[in-house]
Amino acid sequence: MHDLQRLREEAMAALAAADTADALEAWRIRYLGRKGLLQELIRAIPDLPPQERPAFGQAANALKADLTAAFEARQQAVAEARLAAELASEAVDVTLPGRRPQVGRLHPSHQTLREIYAIFSTMGFQVFTSRDVETDEYNFELLNIPPGHPARDMWDTFYTTTPGVIMRTHTSPGQIHAMRTLGPTKPIRVILPGMCFRYEQVTARSEMMFHQVEGLAIGRNITMADLKGVIVEFANQLYGAGRRLRFRCSHFPFTEPSVEADVDCILCGGRGCAVCKYTGWLEIMGAGMVHPVVLRNGGYDPAEWTGFAFGMGPERITMLKHGITDIRYFFSTDLRFLEQF
Ligand code: DAH
Repeated sequence: MHDLQRLREEAMAALAAADTADALEAWRIRYLGRKGLLQELIRAIPDLPPQERPAFGQAANALKADLTAAFEARQQAVAEARLAAELASEAVDVTLPGRRPQVGRLHPSHQTLREIYAIFSTMGFQVFTSRDVETDEYNFELLNIPPGHPARDMWDTFYTTTPGVIMRTHTSPGQIHAMRTLGPTKPIRVILPGMCFRYEQVTARSEMMFHQVEGLAIGRNITMADLKGVIVEFANQLYGAGRRLRFRCSHFPFTEPSVEADVDCILCGGRGCAVCKYTGWLEIMGAGMVHPVVLRNGGYDPAEWTGFAFGMGPERITMLKHGITDIRYFFSTDLRFLEQF
């Protein structure tokens, strides 16, 4: 009986110290297993004097029941403690303020481009795109600018290592692509947006890459009056109704006659300020009637067809609209600039 009491005390103390599943299993095998310490005492019952055997058997069974119950309780307590520790380590502090995701947006140039598309779509112009990497033939020769012609000085060109292949200096070669793709028996009304590249000193006023939007209309009865009407309508939609426009004589090899269009300064209303350099006018585009040589190069017979063309710079338009004083912001990828639009 004394041995049973000692075993009880030892087992209970060991159980209280077992705090993992492995330790509990080792405890079970040691005290309650088939070859465990309790079983060892029970197996020794036949060695006891007969009159002591019933009381010892009862006490041993009671001890077995107590140890089993204590074991199960301890097992549950250990499992609960483990779960509680796990939950605590995975706890999420729901009171932390959320992280605001950074929302993307359209580049200011593209906002202006979309505005331009929308305005010209109201006049029946569709968007026609052509490649950024051009040939000398499309960028110059087919536009009536032969090799060695002094007019080439107007476009400082990036040449590639492949002879005859250049980065386009303007969107005007798209005129030839559009005519050759859509013509030569149908009228055309397209705008041609795209990136242009020039081997130029980068300053606040000129970048080496920038967008242009070219316009081209070809038909059987198109006159300079149509050109003026379209530009006036465009300027009034873009800059607000009631704008005054002015057409100045100019020269481009691919148009004849050629003009430059000015709008009254949107900042000072024509009174004169730093932005319009005290002239009261802002130049918004080059334009003209498509030169017969260009029409022919596009596949159209100039005896039957006429057309007008124009070209403008959306970065310049965006600068005027928002009072941006340095064109280098546009492609500097500085979010502090881009996030303002
Ligand atoms: N391509 C000219 C430039 O980059 C702009 C231009 C002027 C386009 C007159 C035209 C035009 O279509 O008719 O300077």
